[in-house]
Amino acid sequence: MFVDYAATGQEALSRIARADDLDTLERLRVALLGKHGSVSALLKTLGGMSPEERQSEGPEIHALREQVTSALAGRKAELEQAALDARLATETVDLSLPAAEVPKGSVHPVSQVMDELAEIFADMGFAVATGPEIEDDWHNFTALNMPESHPARAMHDTFYFPDTGPHAGTHGGRMLLRTHTSPVQVRTMVSQGAPVRIIAPGRVYRSDSDATHTPMFHQVEGLVIDRGIHLGHLKWTLETFLKAFFEREDIVLRLRPSYFPFTEPSVEADVGFALENARRVLGGSGDEPGHGWMELLGSGMVNRRVIEMSGLDPDEWQGFAFGVGVDRLAMLKYGMDDLRAFFDGDVRWLRHYGFSPFDQPTLSAGVGARA
Ligand code: PHE
Repeated sequence: MFVDYAATGQEALSRIARADDLDTLERLRVALLGKHGSVSALLKTLGGMSPEERQSEGPEIHALREQVTSALAGRKAELEQAALDARLATETVDLSLPAAEVPKGSVHPVSQVMDELAEIFADMGFAVATGPEIEDDWHNFTALNMPESHPARAMHDTFYFPDTGPHAGTHGGRMLLRTHTSPVQVRTMVSQGAPVRIIAPGRVYRSDSDATHTPMFHQVEGLVIDRGIHLGHLKWTLETFLKAFFEREDIVLRLRPSYFPFTEPSVEADVGFALENARRVLGGSGDEPGHGWMELLGSGMVNRRVIEMSGLDPDEWQGFAFGVGVDRLAMLKYGMDDLRAFFDGDVRWLRHYGFSPFDQPTLSAGVGARA
C-alpha cells in the first residue's frame, strides 16, 4: 500500500484553511480525527504493518496527525477571534448618545410639606413625635377633656372598631382611627414628662367626604410645655412658622376666641389674604379693601385638666398646642384645589404636583421646593 502522506496532509490543511465557520470546522475535525476519521484510519493501518514498514511509515503518519491537529486548533482560534470581533463591532456603546430616560418617582406634596414643617420647627427646637393611627378612646377623647357626650364621639363622625374582641385600649375603652393628632400630646407628656417641644405630623380619619374633606387626611400637631408659657409664645411661634412656610414676611395673623375642650383659652388663627385674579394670595391684613381672613388652624393654651390627666402638675407646667391640616397647607402653598386628587394615586397628578427627591427643604435656601 502506498499512501502519499504529503498530499493527504496538503489536502487536509487546505480544507481546514477554507472552513469559514466553527460548525464546518468541527465537522472537518470529526472527518479527520474522529473515530472513523481519515487520519484516524491511517493510524490504524500501523497495526497491520511489518516492523520495518512501521518504522518508516509511523513517523510520517504521526507527523501528519500533529500537523492536522495543530492546523485545526489554529483555525479554531482564528474563527473564534473573528466571531468576537464581529460581536464587539455591533455592541459598541456610543457614549455621546443621551442616556435613556428612566422613570423617576416624585415626592408627594404631603410629604414635601411635612418635610418643610419638620425643617421649620427643628430650627425652633422642636422634635418630631409620633403616635398610633389606631388609637383608644381614652387618648383620642377622654384625656383630651372630651366628655362622653361630645359630638365628635358620635358614630357618624368617627371610625370605631368593634367593641368586642382584642380591641380594648389601655384604659379599657374602644379602639378607633384617631380623629386628630392631639392624642400625641397626651402620649408625649405621659412618656417623656416635661418640658416638651414637639410637632406630630400624621394621618387622621373622619367619616367625611367632599371636595375639601376626605375620610383620611393629614394634620400636624404642635405642643410646647414648660414653665411660664403664655399666649405670646403661641402667637410668636405661629407667626414665625407661617412666615417661614409661606415664605412671605407680610403674613398677618388674626387670633379669634374659640372653643376646644383640650385648650383654655382656645384660639382660632386666621390669615389675611388678597384676591388676585379670583385667587386667594396669602399676605397682608384681611381688613384691607379687597382682602379677607381665612381660617387656618386651631390652637390654645393646653387645658390644665389635660396636663393633669397626662401625669403632670398643671400648677408647675403650662403650655400651648395647635393643630393644622397639612393637606390644606399644601393646597394653599402649591395651588391645588381638589383635596381628593391628593389620594387618588393618579400618576399624571403626581408628575405635575410632585417634587424632586433631590430638592431637600432647607431654611437657608428658603424652605419651599423649586417646582
Ligand atoms: N385637634 C383639633 C382639631 O382637629 C385642632 C387643635 C389642636 C386645636 C390643638 C387646639 C389645639 O380640630
